[in-house]
Amino acid sequence: MKVSEAVASRRSVRGFLDRPVAPEVIRRVVERAARAPSGGNVQPWHIAVLGGAALDEFKAIMRRRLVEAPEGEKTDYDIYPANLVAPYRDYRYELGEQLYAELGVPREDKAGRLRWFARNYQFFDAPVALFCSINRIMGPPQWSDLGMYLQTVMLLLREEGLDSCPQECWSRYPQTVGGFIGLPPERMLFCGMAIGHADPDAPANRLRPKRAPLEAFAEFRGI
Ligand SMILES: Cc1cc2nc3c(=O)[nH]c(=O)nc-3n(C[C@H](O)[C@H](O)[C@H](O)COP(=O)(O)O)c2cc1C
Repeated sequence: MKVSEAVASRRSVRGFLDRPVAPEVIRRVVERAARAPSGGNVQPWHIAVLGGAALDEFKAIMRRRLVEAPEGEKTDYDIYPANLVAPYRDYRYELGEQLYAELGVPREDKAGRLRWFARNYQFFDAPVALFCSINRIMGPPQWSDLGMYLQTVMLLLREEGLDSCPQECWSRYPQTVGGFIGLPPERMLFCGMAIGHADPDAPANRLRPKRAPLEAFAEFRGI
């Protein structure tokens, strides 16, 4: 697979087939992705992978937690700034509308939307899950390194015929995730990721979020 094919075919998949993934594939991807660059080569990523019985156990815990604490737990960071301005706010709004249109859940059906969002906390039935954490001393440059690592994981997964969905929704349950994966106090959770084979019949997987046109985000001078 060419890099451009991996980039073009990677998308956030929100419905997975009940089809196992070989553990050695995941180990290979997690290891190879560490070729991602990081400022000063500090390699600030820490990865915990769950599958099989461990994942089943964690998903059962999450089913209970969602009932006990539907609003989530004390969070370590805000996913979006409170004052998200245009055009970013519009992009975010459009994504939500497009997703729920594919799912046939109208805006007024708040309970339906929440129920669907809760599927995040079962990793959309993916057979493998990954969590990424970072030492609390790290700042924005090291957080950007996490993005490079995670995108490299997602592209390598494409080469292995696998799909993924990065999930920062997990930042709403940092204590439950941290307790389960044994996160030391000096580290904080960034995000999770669902990994597996996309279910081609899942309505959510029809979603193809657009991107802003080139002129909206790039300038070229002298070339
Ligand atoms: C760091 C990060 C966290 C994300 N968290 C979630 C999430 O919690 N739940 C979800 O359904 N999608 C999540 N997404 C997926 C985005 O919605 C998606 O990347 C965006 O809409 C573009 O769509 P595409 O990935 O299919 O190209 C996340 C993406 C990133 C990069």
